[in-house]
Amino acid sequence: MDKNRKGIKMKFQKVIIYYFSVTGNAKNAALWIADEVKRKGMDFEIINIAKINNQEIPKPAAYTLIGFCSPTHGFHFPEIMRKFIYSFPKTNNCSAFIANTRAGLRIGKMFLPGLSGVLHYWSSLILIKKGFKIAGLRPVDLPSNWLLLHPALRKTGIDLIFRHTEPKVRQFAKNILDGKKDYRALYDIIQDTLISPIAIGYMYVGRYLFAKSFISSSDCDNCGICKKTCPVNAIKQVNGRMFWTYKCESCMRCMNNCPQKAIETAHGFILVFVFLLVALLRYGLKQLLAIEPFKDLYWLQTGAIEFLISSIIFIPFLILAYRIMHWLLRFRIFERFIVYTSLSKYKFWGRYKAPKNKLT
Ligand SMILES: Cc1cc2nc3c(=O)[nH]c(=O)nc-3n(C[C@H](O)[C@H](O)[C@H](O)COP(=O)(O)O)c2cc1C
Repeated sequence: MDKNRKGIKMKFQKVIIYYFSVTGNAKNAALWIADEVKRKGMDFEIINIAKINNQEIPKPAAYTLIGFCSPTHGFHFPEIMRKFIYSFPKTNNCSAFIANTRAGLRIGKMFLPGLSGVLHYWSSLILIKKGFKIAGLRPVDLPSNWLLLHPALRKTGIDLIFRHTEPKVRQFAKNILDGKKDYRALYDIIQDTLISPIAIGYMYVGRYLFAKSFISSSDCDNCGICKKTCPVNAIKQVNGRMFWTYKCESCMRCMNNCPQKAIETAHGFILVFVFLLVALLRYGLKQLLAIEPFKDLYWLQTGAIEFLISSIIFIPFLILAYRIMHWLLRFRIFERFIVYTSLSKYKFWGRYKAPKNKLT
């Protein structure tokens, strides 16, 4: 065992925390852990993975503890963190921990945890294959930033969740720095296993569909912050208006950061479109399956097959609808209709950014 700057024997010679954060929650978690490392007088680094090239990740020296902190997206790590872990060099005698922030909720006096899905199992397997020992797996429940689906939490709720979670993250850091194993994530094994098919569906299909709801309204002053800060370079300008390409993972940084609050999720347009398309598809399929040669193929007539065919046809139509919506936005009347039928336009919906935190 090595000694730290205070002369105390330590299990690790150095700690490196790699983090990715969209609205600041995972960055806060990384900073709390770094703070505990600092208190122990150990050497550490804290690195934002969005700023490094995956081909140039340095191989850590033996007895380094490496931490991976990132939000949970669709019951898994977002692609940027998955690729980072996947590209991580093979190691000898190094340990790793995972701390994933997820959507914590507070209902009355109760704190409800988010869902990690396959995140811990996938990451642990990859890291073990790379030679790591797993020192800790910790879900970190902080306010949800998924404003495509729900309004932002109010400040009192945000503060309460932060006060509830910070000591738990600090305790987790103390445990692993003291050489104890902390696998708190495994308590969620039942719900995480049950949700895993959705995690896979979200990874391959869902995340691209959610992205097809973002628009920039006429309040946009073309400052370009959304384009510059997008972690996956998914936003481009088409005919003078922001356009979200298929690289978009609906991480919500653009919408939560826009100084003009000009980015909306087009709830109304998408709802009407989905409703009409599903009705049309069901009707069309029924007509098609009633004619030769399909009508005698009984396996084709099952609900599951109908659902599968409709889902496959649905995707190109959604892509087309997004293009149409983007084109319609150039006409003031449609722009106002699309904007005012977006729930995110209204004050109660709000935007989310984690409270700022600094390493002291
Ligand atoms: C696209 C998207 C998907 C999400 N998926 C999940 C999820 O599967 N489970 C969960 O508990 N929280 C989920 N969340 C909530 C975030 O993980 C959570 O708010 C996290 O603390 C945000 O961290 P950050 O501020 O560092 O980005 C999701 C958020 C977004 C934007």
